[in-house]
Amino acid sequence: MPQKVQGTEDLIGSYMREWERMLAIAREVFGTYGFDAVETPALEQVDTFVHGIGESTDVVRKEMFRVVSGALLGDLLAVGNESGLKARQRLALRPEGTAGFVRAAIENNLVPQGAAPVKAWYAGPMFRGERPQKGRLRQFHQVGAEVLGASDPALDAELIIMLIEFFVKLGFPAESLKLRINSMGDAICRPAYRASVRAFILAHADGMCDDCRERAELNPLRAFDCKNPACSEIMQGAPLVTDQLCPACAAHYAQVKAYLDEAGIAYEEDPTLVRGLDYYTRTVFEVDVEEAGVGAIGGGGRYDGLVELEGGKPTPGIGFAVGFERISLALRALGSSPAPEPEPCVFVACTPDQRQAAFSATHALRAAGIRTEADYQGRSLKSQFKLADKLGARLCVVLGPDEAAAGSATLRDMETHEQVLVSLAELAEAIKARLEA
Ligand code: HAM
Repeated sequence: MPQKVQGTEDLIGSYMREWERMLAIAREVFGTYGFDAVETPALEQVDTFVHGIGESTDVVRKEMFRVVSGALLGDLLAVGNESGLKARQRLALRPEGTAGFVRAAIENNLVPQGAAPVKAWYAGPMFRGERPQKGRLRQFHQVGAEVLGASDPALDAELIIMLIEFFVKLGFPAESLKLRINSMGDAICRPAYRASVRAFILAHADGMCDDCRERAELNPLRAFDCKNPACSEIMQGAPLVTDQLCPACAAHYAQVKAYLDEAGIAYEEDPTLVRGLDYYTRTVFEVDVEEAGVGAIGGGGRYDGLVELEGGKPTPGIGFAVGFERISLALRALGSSPAPEPEPCVFVACTPDQRQAAFSATHALRAAGIRTEADYQGRSLKSQFKLADKLGARLCVVLGPDEAAAGSATLRDMETHEQVLVSLAELAEAIKARLEA
């Protein structure tokens, strides 16, 4: 029997309601800040991610799921590599949402020069071929928000404030959220900083792992995230980006912090926070819940060069994304039960001779917007009540010969077992009044 792919999860029952609740809170909170919902494809050209996320990142080099149609698979296997494929044939499942959103913004001319910034939020599955473990999946769900078209540090602060507000609305006590921020510099100051980290790694290469030695050439800043204890100890002495920011980046960072201070947002400066995607410039941030031990529940930053990397006109941008599965784990670790109760429903029970009347009543209640269930397996009345309980029905409509003769139905409260006779014409209103009480 086929089974689900390792590192994927089914969203069913209360877990699905948790995801829907997160979407509803995102719509509410992000809507207040002027964000519109967008949806871009899960399938994009490989180049969208290579240009945006960066060829040397782990996400692109090791974790991207490539997609080949059956028709092309034969050609690919015959040649042995993708040199024969055109750019439009080289496809991948999105490992994150930002690069695809930026591609879509350029293609749909969302940010004409001089226009007001565009603000968009999205939600959906992302795919990374990581080694599955708690809080690390191969298909996971993100909710993200992006702003294109302004470099004002007020936007950086507002976005971080919106993120914290979102977490608090989801149920995290503000004091459980650990926000770390940093500035990664820009095209002016980063190259020199990167070179200094590369030189530092090469000078300490003997004590560092093979991966870090490789990183010195490919992506030296990633060495800050190496899990090897010897490497992390050595990297504690590495040059810090905040000591090498150019005056414009230093002023931008100072202003972001001033806005956060003014808004009363607690944060910790972490000059080793470098993030795993190459497109970041200036402000970067991550949030985690230390007690939960599931890693970052959200992160993001500014990406002032990304639109240009994807082939658009120079346009600054900033955004974040949060991970649904980690948020769910973290809320549970804090003792909060994040799944809302199912919507209350009504069950229509009947004696066998009243099946037709039950069919009509069910139809009428649904037409009145009431979530309604019924029996489709010819159960006895007693078993229908049991089923109603199992389905979480708050009320049961009972239709038997006596009720039919009176043009009425018995309305039974499933908790108190109290019963009243209600005329069929007033049934929907009577139910609504009780459900809302
Ligand atoms: P990211 O930090 O790679 O950023 O991912 C954001 C969040 O997605 C993480 O904090 C984590 O909660 C969740 N996440 C990432 N990988 C996994 C995984 N394998 N399993 C479960 N959850 C995971 C981005 O993706 C950027 N696009 C964020 C951004 C938007 N930056 C600017 N705009």
